[in-house]
Amino acid sequence: MIKNEVNKRKTFAIISHPDAGKTTLTERLLQVGNLIRTAGTVKGKKTGKFATSDWMEIEKQRGISVTSSVMNFHYHDLQVNILDTPGHEDFSEDTYRTLTAVDSVVMIIDSTKGIEAQTLKLFKVCRMRGIPIFTFINKLDREGKETFELLEEIEEVLDIETYPMNWPAGMGKGFLGIFDRNGQQFVKYNGNEEESIIPFNELDKHTELTNNTTFEAARDEVALLDEAGNTLSMEAVLKGEQTPVFFGSALAPFGVEIFFDTFINMAPTPKPRRTTDGIVQPDNPNFSGFIFKIQANMNPAHRDRIAFLRVCSGKFERGMSVKLARTGKTLKLSQSQQIIASTRETVDEAYAGDIIGIYDPNAYQIGDTLIAGKDTFEYNELPQFPPELFKKVSAKNVMKSKQFKKGIEQLVQEGAIQLFRDKRTESYILGAVGDLQYDVFKYRMENEYNVEVMFDTIGERIPRWLNPEQPINESLFDERRMLVRDRNDNYLVLFQNEFALNWFQENNPKVDLIDLFQVN
Ligand code: G4P
Repeated sequence: MIKNEVNKRKTFAIISHPDAGKTTLTERLLQVGNLIRTAGTVKGKKTGKFATSDWMEIEKQRGISVTSSVMNFHYHDLQVNILDTPGHEDFSEDTYRTLTAVDSVVMIIDSTKGIEAQTLKLFKVCRMRGIPIFTFINKLDREGKETFELLEEIEEVLDIETYPMNWPAGMGKGFLGIFDRNGQQFVKYNGNEEESIIPFNELDKHTELTNNTTFEAARDEVALLDEAGNTLSMEAVLKGEQTPVFFGSALAPFGVEIFFDTFINMAPTPKPRRTTDGIVQPDNPNFSGFIFKIQANMNPAHRDRIAFLRVCSGKFERGMSVKLARTGKTLKLSQSQQIIASTRETVDEAYAGDIIGIYDPNAYQIGDTLIAGKDTFEYNELPQFPPELFKKVSAKNVMKSKQFKKGIEQLVQEGAIQLFRDKRTESYILGAVGDLQYDVFKYRMENEYNVEVMFDTIGERIPRWLNPEQPINESLFDERRMLVRDRNDNYLVLFQNEFALNWFQENNPKVDLIDLFQVN
């Protein structure tokens, strides 16, 4: 029974650089899944409406999506779980973590821009974790880069083999449609009208197409691909070594259903996962899962914390008792919810691949494993991502130091930002992947903990951890190579720049410097 349920689950995230069309595509997929019937509620840069996944006030103010949400729907026989990822590049740390909870990823590329900075960053994390990647090249209704050029860019910049699942004829004003190689049919673009479908063997009857040189050129390209192009290898796709590529327009919408139908069948179901005690199969009868995100105050009416848990094995049942592996403590999961955008529905049962939101009585930390039954093990899914920016932080009013410490502690535990302490002065230093994390931190400290904070910028730094086995010679460090400790009491050095790092290494060859990102 459990195996049957697991095999229905398809859990994926959509990644892209801001503005490539992630929100638009997500909403189209929800429409395909009949979850949202009205179009155009995407996000309100202009309309004043906001994406269903925007929760916090600060998101509304900025028109960006700060937190990740989870959406799910039934599609034919499948249970589809889409994990939304923060759209702004400043929030990649949160996005990185979301990637540990999915079984595959859809990478959206804007056909007019090609590979952009954030796509590259997120792609690297997927690659490192061996997550299968499916590509959707968007905005074909605009004049974009040549198809071959886009594929070449993916292969060269991302170092992954491509397999075009379909092939566009023209683009922008001259866009005619796509050759669906998988379905052996041409999907004709009719502007605002619904797309029409013509099987390959009937194409010659359509002179409006065959008389068009763009169409014929694209048809020749498809023949060339069939003859001399890469072959589709599901094995390589599942290892993250080959990416099936789809073309379309999320806005039109065009090609979205064909993409989704093909993708959802090819995408992997939940796989076995590694733990500290060997491999755990998704259909193992004992429930287990890990927390990849903690969100406080999602609903301002109730000041609560929700932990997002990825189910990895067994069956989750509401009210069940589980063990928190880190402490050995038993907890009862009575309040469990599926978070569908900003609304919540109670979940009574869930299986591997599902994401559930559980009420957090201030007991959980990001990365925690929950298990039912006698086993004890932990999922070691959550690598620490090294921050790139650093600021000293203090309370404006020293009388508020108690709330200040409490606020920092909770926001750090939630994973909103990373905390370090200066070895010499003991001052608080916050590390982030992007500047916006500081804005959110400041806003939340004021609104949730009633403390105004001040920052003192340290700037961009390169963090390198010290080998805990080696004694520390404090005289080697100063402002340009700052010695700090992280929340687990590991020491690291914040180097001012690449030059300072290299200089240090050359002059102190015996000091081991560890780049966490490389290790993971
Ligand atoms: P994001 O979540 O990845 O940041 O992107 P989003 O979906 O918000 O899309 C960014 C912009 O690109 C939006 O326009 C959106 O309408 C447009 N867009 C998305 N898909 C397509 C497509 O297939 N073709 C074309 N031509 N445009 C597309 P905007 O002007 O920034 O916002 P809006 O006022 O239209 O919402």
